[in-house]
Amino acid sequence: MEDKGISKDEVFKFLRNFKKQDMTHRSGRILGSMCTCPHEVGLKAYSMFSESNLGDPGLFQGTKIMEDEVIAMLGELLGKKDVCGHIITGGTEANIMAMRAARNSFRINALNSGERDNQNSSKIKVLKPSKIKNLEIVVPKSAHFSFKKAADMLCLKLREAELDDNYCVDLASVDSLISDNTVAVVGVAGTTELGKVDAIEELSKLCLEKDIFLHVDAAFGGFSIPFLNEIGYDLPKFDFSLEGVCSITIDPHKMGLAPIPTGGILFRDKSYLEVMSIETPYLTEDRQSTIVGTRTGASTAATWALMKYLGKEGYQKVAGKCMELTNLLTQGIRESGFELVTEPQLNIVAFRSPKMSLWEVADKLEEKGWAVSISSYPQAIRIVVMPHLKREHIEEFLDDLKKIK
Ligand SMILES: Cc1ncc(COP(=O)(O)O)c(C=O)c1O
Repeated sequence: MEDKGISKDEVFKFLRNFKKQDMTHRSGRILGSMCTCPHEVGLKAYSMFSESNLGDPGLFQGTKIMEDEVIAMLGELLGKKDVCGHIITGGTEANIMAMRAARNSFRINALNSGERDNQNSSKIKVLKPSKIKNLEIVVPKSAHFSFKKAADMLCLKLREAELDDNYCVDLASVDSLISDNTVAVVGVAGTTELGKVDAIEELSKLCLEKDIFLHVDAAFGGFSIPFLNEIGYDLPKFDFSLEGVCSITIDPHKMGLAPIPTGGILFRDKSYLEVMSIETPYLTEDRQSTIVGTRTGASTAATWALMKYLGKEGYQKVAGKCMELTNLLTQGIRESGFELVTEPQLNIVAFRSPKMSLWEVADKLEEKGWAVSISSYPQAIRIVVMPHLKREHIEEFLDDLKKIK
């Protein structure tokens, strides 16, 4: 650090230089990311609330009202208006919170023969530590790596369920992994690598039957599946309308067009937040359930503004356009002699070359300026057709793909 500061002009000259080395979504060259160009309305709202700290909501009461409204809007979108939750940094934090709520709830034994009493959660008591060892979570093999972080942080054993031929979680495999120590089962609505939607309705039945917490990771699909269904797609149910679903991750900074970092975690009822709450002696509120303390209100403002501004109609157009471009891309990939590894369910396309290795294809595309990614299971070139991609980007990409074949 310099002894004496440099001028503003110099600072921004340096910043422009750093910026030049970054890729931009706007260029249309980023094809393997789940982030996108933030919408201008979200950016404006974000900058208006850059000083608000939802870790101390008594000082930022307007922002807190907005967070409550955003959570209610998200809940309504996902089948239950009166949910609880928070706007946080992203899918990783949301998934960790969900696993923490599940683990803590498991540790709590309701007074009346193990039943949770949501009306009066003061009636709960904690089991002896000897009874709560070796706890486990069952996640699909396709689950995001954030569950590995959650398992590590919360001292839970991660048990990975096999996938079926369609790369969705195999229900028999989930069933076989459930034990007396299972604190949560996870289903995914829009897997990271292939955009697949697990059979959440079946998982919900299974978890209700076995009285196990079911978390749905809809970080990617949460902001598109409901809108796609409204415009005529037929994607499976995955939300709180299924009684067994206890929590949902939904990321506004993915298909919701919000600036980074903006994630969302929703719980069916407030008992799940209560089991995580810690006393906060010097703040305006007595207790806090989030992992982080200081927490930006700007992400909340951006999400509130975007949901109000775009409305259902706006998000239907965004999700619908991504699916149209996904179809254009899959058609072009087939016509260029490449093979899809599976039919896309959402806006993610995975393909291989019958002649070249994946790395060869990825390198050749990179030489032409395309940033694709490679999925791990199954191994394939993976393209996420995010809202920053336009028809001309897809056409240009397909032209280059034909040339490298
Ligand atoms: C399904 C899913 N869950 C969670 C995450 C983690 O989200 P973040 O990177 O915002 O923490 C991702 C990220 O791609 C994801 O695809």
